Amino acid sequence: MGMLANRLLKNKKKLAKWAAKQGIECYRIYQQDIPEYPLIVDLYGDCAVVWANRRKRDETDAEVQAFLGEVRSEITTALDLAPGKLFLKQRHPGGQYRRQDEEPHWLTVREGGLLFKVNLSNYHDTGLFLDHRPTRRYVRERAQDRRVLNLFCYTGSFTVYAAAAGAKSTTSVDLSKRYLDWLDDNLTLNRFSGEHYLVQADVRLWLERAAERGLSYDIIICDPPTFSNSKRTEELFDVVRDHSELLNAALFLLRPGGFMIFSTNKRGFALDSDIARRWKCLDITAATTDPDFAGRVHHQAWLISANRISGKANVD
Ligand SMILES: C[S@@+](CC[C@H](N)C(=O)[O-])C[C@H]1O[C@@H](n2cnc3c(N)ncnc32)[C@H](O)[C@@H]1O
Repeated sequence: MGMLANRLLKNKKKLAKWAAKQGIECYRIYQQDIPEYPLIVDLYGDCAVVWANRRKRDETDAEVQAFLGEVRSEITTALDLAPGKLFLKQRHPGGQYRRQDEEPHWLTVREGGLLFKVNLSNYHDTGLFLDHRPTRRYVRERAQDRRVLNLFCYTGSFTVYAAAAGAKSTTSVDLSKRYLDWLDDNLTLNRFSGEHYLVQADVRLWLERAAERGLSYDIIICDPPTFSNSKRTEELFDVVRDHSELLNAALFLLRPGGFMIFSTNKRGFALDSDIARRWKCLDITAATTDPDFAGRVHHQAWLISANRISGKANVD
């Protein structure tokens, strides 16, 4: 067994007990731990999803294929994967991932006693961002009887947690019809009915209309992409440049006593000083980090509210 397989075994051994105890079947076991193996490896039940960066030293296609072959073999051995249970996505120098498997591989996974539909093969992401598991728990613990707004909702994992808590209503906004349909499937899987509004819209445009209509929410989740096309300006949304305007527009809808969770995966991100001055902002990154992401690059998150909060956040 090689260096990669040994590390995978060691990491899995370290995390498996914790995951089992928490009822978690999807978790990260490797993220760029060894420079020679620039990979991410996530477990989804008895399957593994692997994102492979191309190494600079592999110049020819034959070298790349040899590396990927080694990766496949080491991972299959270390994790004792059955045939067809390894899903490999290959990243190119331009940052694009090539789809390795054309056939969709849908799976229903369980997290926190809830069910989520994931697709391990067709998209860059599976439908469930594993790093936000503790953030989802945080929402669940506070969403009972609350009006919850989930901006950039993707497949609605935050919405499902809020519904599980007994939220008074949820409103989920995303540009993508495909992701909203996926969210709908996730709600159906968990047999949640009630006031769950799914809105296909550009978030910034929708926030303007919501303010005009006097809509307001107790909990707002705002987890935008780093970049996105906006129909409003025909310009790219850039989280560094535009988060202040976005957050002010969203916070305008916050009800007294409510809070927003703002999160970004942009590396080196710093919250705008104007937001930090006008609102009470608590960095909850450490508090929203489970053991499988500890010490790894992942999201940064803030709890933003109108009430002064001091000290360290304790999410558990
Ligand atoms: C980073 S994902 C959000 C992840 C989600 N919060 C979660 O934890 O599952 C970004 C989402 O934003 C959506 N999106 C991108 N630009 C948008 C825009 N201008 N308005 C609405 N949704 C947008 C994408 O379709 C995608 O679903």
